[in-house]
Amino acid sequence: PTDAGVTSLTRVLPADLTERAAGCPFAPAPGLAERRGRGTVQPVALLNGADAFLVTGFDEARAVLSDPRFSSDRLRYPDASQLTPDQVAGLAGQDGPPRPRVESREDGMFVFMDPPEHTRLRRLLTGQFTVRRMNALEERLREIATEHIDAMVAAGTEADLVPAYALPIPSLMICELLGVDYADRDEFQHNTAVALSTRSTDAERAAAGGALYGFIARLVAEKRRAPADDLLSGLVHEAEPPLTDAQLIDVALVLLGAGHETTANMLGLGVLALLQDPAQLAALRADPGLIDGTVEELLRYLSIVQLGVTRIALEDVTVGGVDVPAGATVVIATPEANRDARHLPDPDRLDLTRPRAPHLAFGHGIHQCLGQQLARIEMRTGFGELFARLPDLRLAVPAEEVPLRNDMQIFGVHSLPVTWA
Ligand code: HEM
Repeated sequence: PTDAGVTSLTRVLPADLTERAAGCPFAPAPGLAERRGRGTVQPVALLNGADAFLVTGFDEARAVLSDPRFSSDRLRYPDASQLTPDQVAGLAGQDGPPRPRVESREDGMFVFMDPPEHTRLRRLLTGQFTVRRMNALEERLREIATEHIDAMVAAGTEADLVPAYALPIPSLMICELLGVDYADRDEFQHNTAVALSTRSTDAERAAAGGALYGFIARLVAEKRRAPADDLLSGLVHEAEPPLTDAQLIDVALVLLGAGHETTANMLGLGVLALLQDPAQLAALRADPGLIDGTVEELLRYLSIVQLGVTRIALEDVTVGGVDVPAGATVVIATPEANRDARHLPDPDRLDLTRPRAPHLAFGHGIHQCLGQQLARIEMRTGFGELFARLPDLRLAVPAEEVPLRNDMQIFGVHSLPVTWA
């Protein structure tokens, strides 16, 4: 799930399913709320005229995500967003399993692959997320959080938390994972921010994306020549048979795309949610032991990936009593699945003290978030350090003026003006 490019389905989803209401940035989009009671698997008409299915139930979402008859491979099987209205019209009545556009894949975009191609790359990656490496990252993270709060405090009593804190944390963590030199980090962070920002022009985005690709290509070459103690070096030297340069670059881009905006927006929107709920924030401040529960509850409650997890049916499958035909695009409505009243009481309430509720914020099944351990460390430390160091942190503008990322696949805030004494 990245805004960095690959999923275009969001563009053809009706806006009322993805755009959250002004003044109500934590609740699912109004169109989703309206559809409650219409079943856990519902047909939905896309803007290009194609049909898709929306999965709003927790069990049904898990069933889809653990069923090999649903594919993640968008290169091989086009999803409904890739059809023009003419193609949609031409397709009417031509049901049947989708025909593969490519027979084999040699790239490294494993988030959009099925087994066995996915399995090999995923295993290589999992082997690099070692306990030792995670512990070292947690220590670095505490330093990074502290340095950034120090810088905010040194500069005054007001800041935009997004560029000052929420974005640099995941960006620098990815630098650590990939082994980016300290001297190159400003350039890396700058290009990533431009490539991912809605405020950039198309030309700026393209230029920054190109620069980033070149940067990662040079990084891979450098790790081949002089391996260090980072994940990318591990992948370069430990994969058997070895990965190609193109695969390694793709893998690095997947990590960057998947690990950057997601964490940054959980931090930004999470801080907003806590500042808007003083009783919950006071409970967390009174008992720092609540931090793990806070992270899980915010993941569930905010569901920032929104409708970003999608699959294509390779066969006719019945889910939640609904027949999903081969070739259909299936969209997991994570904000709704995470508020499934069959699984937890009072699902629309943020409750940091609730017994841990299962959620699908990291997906489910073979593609379940590979970085979730790291993401949890980033959120635990990111929220923990911020609220501990700035006990009177508050919004610097009325909440309605915080610009929401309704134009992006990953939901969150574009900026978050805050102040402290
Ligand atoms: C996959 C959410 C942070 C790396 C996923 C998926 C979700 C998700 C929903 C499943 C996609 C699908 O099934 O189609 C999140 C959220 C995060 C987060 C909410 C932050 C709070 C991270 C971080 C990293 C990361 C920090 C890495 C540094 C990945 C990768 C995949 C993935 C590589 C693809 C795994 C695969 O296809 O096997 N993430 N993620 N994520 N995530 Fe995360």
